[in-house]
Amino acid sequence: MRVFVAGASGAIGTRLVPQLVDRGHEVIGTSRSAEKAEHLRALGAEPVALDLLDRSGVRRAVLEAAPDAIVHQATALADLNFSRNFDRTFAMTNRLRTEGTDALLAAARAVGVDRFVAQSFASFRTAREGAWVKSEDDPLDPAPPAKARESNAAMRHLEEAVTNAGGIALRYGVFYGAANDGLIEPVRKRQYPIVGDGGGVASWIHLDDAAAATVLALGHDGPGIFNVVDDEPAPVREWLPVLAEALGAGPPRRFPRWLARLFAGEVAVVMGTEARGASNAKAKRELGWQPRYPSWRDGFVAAYKSTAPAKRHRAEPRLKEETRRETSS
Ligand SMILES: NC(=O)c1ccc[n+]([C@@H]2O[C@H](COP(=O)([O-])OP(=O)(O)OC[C@H]3O[C@@H](n4cnc5c(N)ncnc54)[C@H](OP(=O)(O)O)[C@@H]3O)[C@@H](O)[C@H]2O)c1
Repeated sequence: MRVFVAGASGAIGTRLVPQLVDRGHEVIGTSRSAEKAEHLRALGAEPVALDLLDRSGVRRAVLEAAPDAIVHQATALADLNFSRNFDRTFAMTNRLRTEGTDALLAAARAVGVDRFVAQSFASFRTAREGAWVKSEDDPLDPAPPAKARESNAAMRHLEEAVTNAGGIALRYGVFYGAANDGLIEPVRKRQYPIVGDGGGVASWIHLDDAAAATVLALGHDGPGIFNVVDDEPAPVREWLPVLAEALGAGPPRRFPRWLARLFAGEVAVVMGTEARGASNAKAKRELGWQPRYPSWRDGFVAAYKSTAPAKRHRAEPRLKEETRRETSS
């Protein structure tokens, strides 16, 4: 198949391209940077420059590529400064998930492509009541925290638009394994605390496993939504100390809910205490997918062992200084 990958140069795209090439697919991969385009070429893809927010440019690029399938992996999550306002942090990604998805789907229609796979997200989206692990059929959160409503709506838009067009939306877990993973520094600096009882559940996925499921989804007839997550959804109080250990960091701090709300906002409190995880049963059953890293327990170690500095615990006065800086910024 000729596969057009929008966002081929990103964390998931660069894992996906070689897996597609290995299976004999021809890949046309997008990037807006000449340097990343060269990297895509080295991975075996034919690079094209594309801004997904340029609708006529998207149509032109897809018409020229004449693909059999389209994959949408474009987000704008590199070098983020997480603020208390989740929607502001995700504003550009939300546009890529709404306008970008619509532009790609329109281009797909124009070339008669109905094989379409797009990136969505599993964790923190379903209703915060009942079971702690949810399937694709469980209701989405009807009342997300105020500062996360636009981001939730953008993901909902993507899933509805893609499945209405006969495509597949993959609700990935939280990615790990990228060198630019935005969690690494806060966890290393002990700036990512366990909030309240740390009961909020996250579902994780190693980037190589996410890419493998995407390859399988391309061979599957839509429409459909699949959780692409590992076998062990887990509360923050379990996974965060393991991640800290894998990164060679000291143990995470604990914040009461009120303090976390003050410094990090309501979305962080909800994620840390109420969020639900996701089940991968459907992806295993219908896509025939098996994660190589069934649990983040082994996956974190495999992904980060080469990056962990020699173990050290910082002196208490330095921690106090960091806390002062955090609270004053
Ligand atoms: N499920 C998850 O947990 C999840 C999901 C996504 C990302 N992340 C994390 O976020 C971090 C950053 O992700 P990333 O390295 O993939 O970077 P990113 O900035 O999110 O970029 C992802 C891809 O989207 C493309 N893109 C961005 N804006 C675009 C636009 N306007 N038009 C077309 N393409 C556009 C980028 O291409 P260009 O070369 O053109 O910039 C890149 O290929 C990583 O640590 C990653 O693991 C996590």
